[in-house]
Amino acid sequence: MSLKWRKELNTGLDWQDAQHQQIFSQLDKLQEAMKLNAGASVIKETVDFLVEYVEKHFHDEEEYMQKHNCTAYTEHKRQHDDFIEEFSTIKAVYDKQGTSTVTVMRLHGLLSDWLIQHIMQIDRHMPEHCSA
Ligand SMILES: [Fe+2]
Repeated sequence: MSLKWRKELNTGLDWQDAQHQQIFSQLDKLQEAMKLNAGASVIKETVDFLVEYVEKHFHDEEEYMQKHNCTAYTEHKRQHDDFIEEFSTIKAVYDKQGTSTVTVMRLHGLLSDWLIQHIMQIDRHMPEHCSA
């Protein structure tokens, strides 16, 4: 599966598409850093990025869904909460131990599997479940 942004992932909501492109670009940086074995600063950047990103992005989506009476709200929010829980676990280990191969792999797995799947399967269809 390609982890590059592509236009089929567009939801048609400009703010949401722009935020999604940011996460792809951060994942790209992380993957480059892993290839070059140039980890620590990019890992820190990715963790810091996610702390802010998750709060802003999930909040914006959830607020949009509530304002627009989106029918899939509960399931969608549950997925966001699962992500936050998993990320918090990884971050707690990172805060204690710093960069390690396990943390890098878990962070990469979280971004590439969960988040990208979420964007493709849930976010992409979000506007269909909402009133304008
Ligand atoms: Fe979402």
